[in-house]
Amino acid sequence: MPLALPNGGKLINREAKGEAAMELSLRAREMVHLALDAVQAADLLLIATGALSPLTGFMNREEFTSVVECMRLPSGHVLGLPIFLAVDSSVSRELSIGQKVALFRQGKMLAVMTIEDIFTHNKEVTVRAVFGTADTAHPGVAYVLAQSEVLIGGPVTMINRPSLPFLDLAMDPAEVRARAAALGWQTMVGFQTRNPIHRAHEYIQKCAMEIVDGLLLHPLMGETKADDVPAAVRLDSYRKILDLYYPADRVILSAFPAAMRYAGPREAVFHAICRRNYGCTHFIVGRDHAGVGSFYGTYDAQRIFTAFTAEELGIQPLFFEHSFYCRICGQMATAKTCPHNSDAHISLSGTKVRSLLSQRLAPPPELTRPEVAAVLLDQ
Ligand code: ADX
Repeated sequence: MPLALPNGGKLINREAKGEAAMELSLRAREMVHLALDAVQAADLLLIATGALSPLTGFMNREEFTSVVECMRLPSGHVLGLPIFLAVDSSVSRELSIGQKVALFRQGKMLAVMTIEDIFTHNKEVTVRAVFGTADTAHPGVAYVLAQSEVLIGGPVTMINRPSLPFLDLAMDPAEVRARAAALGWQTMVGFQTRNPIHRAHEYIQKCAMEIVDGLLLHPLMGETKADDVPAAVRLDSYRKILDLYYPADRVILSAFPAAMRYAGPREAVFHAICRRNYGCTHFIVGRDHAGVGSFYGTYDAQRIFTAFTAEELGIQPLFFEHSFYCRICGQMATAKTCPHNSDAHISLSGTKVRSLLSQRLAPPPELTRPEVAAVLLDQ
C-alpha cells in the first residue's frame, strides 16, 4: 500500500514563487489590505501548502454551511472543521464579490485572495455544531464568538509565508511525503500532540509503530491556550525522547503549524484528514483527543469516526483506550490488556502534571521519562 492519497485526490498548492510572486505582490499593493490574526495566518499556510486539500481558500458560504452541518464539503470530501475568514464589518463595506484583497500579518504581505462570497456568520449555530456548546469557558467557542459576524470566502494565493513560531521545523505535506518515500515507508502513522511526550503517548505510538513502517510525530505548534506547555519546551522534550528511545529511521519529527481549537471529536476528524494530506495512512486517536476541561466524553473523539466510511476518510484511525502504568504488570497497559485493580495503576492528568512541574516536582518516572522530566523542570 503506498502512502495515503490526498483528500480530493491531489495535493493543493496555492503558493506563488519567483517572478509570479513578485508580480502579484506588486499588484497587491493597490488592493484593500486585510490583517490576519495568528489563527487565520496559520490556516492560510495550511491551505496554501495542501494540508487542507481539497480546500483552495477560505470557505465560501456553501462550503462553510456544509462543513458546519455535516463535516463534509459540498463535494462530499470530509473536513471536520470550518476554515473561515472573519473581517470587521467596517472593512467589509469596502468589499465586493470578485474583488482581490491582500492578506497581511504584522505588516508582512502574505497572500492575495479573490472574494467569492461575503456572508453573515451565525456564530451560535457554528459553536453549537462544532464545539457542542456555546459556553465561553471553552477556548475555541470564546475565539469564535469574539469575531466579527462577516465572513469572506474565496481562493488564496500565498506570496510570503507567515512568520509563525517554529516554521522552519514545519515540513510541507509534499516534503513529509518525499521524506517518508525516501525512507521506503508505505505506511505511516500520524501522531498529533500539544503536550510533552509522556509514557502513555510513547506506549500508544509504539503499539502503532509495530504495525506500520514509520511514525510522523507531528506536534501542533500553532496557537494553544496559555496554560499549555510552551512549544519550545515541548520541542526539546520531543528531541530528547526521540534521541534516546526511538529508532531514527522510523520517525519523522515535524511541526504541525495549525492552531488548536479544542473541538474534541470534530477536531479529531480534522486532525486525521490533515495528516492524510501529509501522507499518513493511519492516525492515532486516544483518550479525549483535542479535548479541553470536561466538555467531551473520554471516547467521543473515537465514536465520531463511525459517521464516515473508510473510503471517505482515506486514513485509518487507530483507537487507543486510556493508557496507564500498572505496577503489577510492570508496564504500560490499558483495560484491554491489564486485569488488575485500579489501585495498581498510575496515571495523571495533564493538569496534575502541570501542577507538579509548577512546584518544581518531577512527575513519576512510570509516567514521564526522567530525561523528559529534566527538560520540563529546566524551563
Ligand atoms: S491533543 O489535545 O492534541 O489530542 P494530547 O497531547 O493530550 O493532545 O494527546 C495526544 C494524543 O494522545 C491524543 O490522540 C490523545 O487522545 C492521546 N492520549 C493522551 N493521553 C493518553 C492516555 N493516557 N491514554 C491514551 N491516549 C492518550
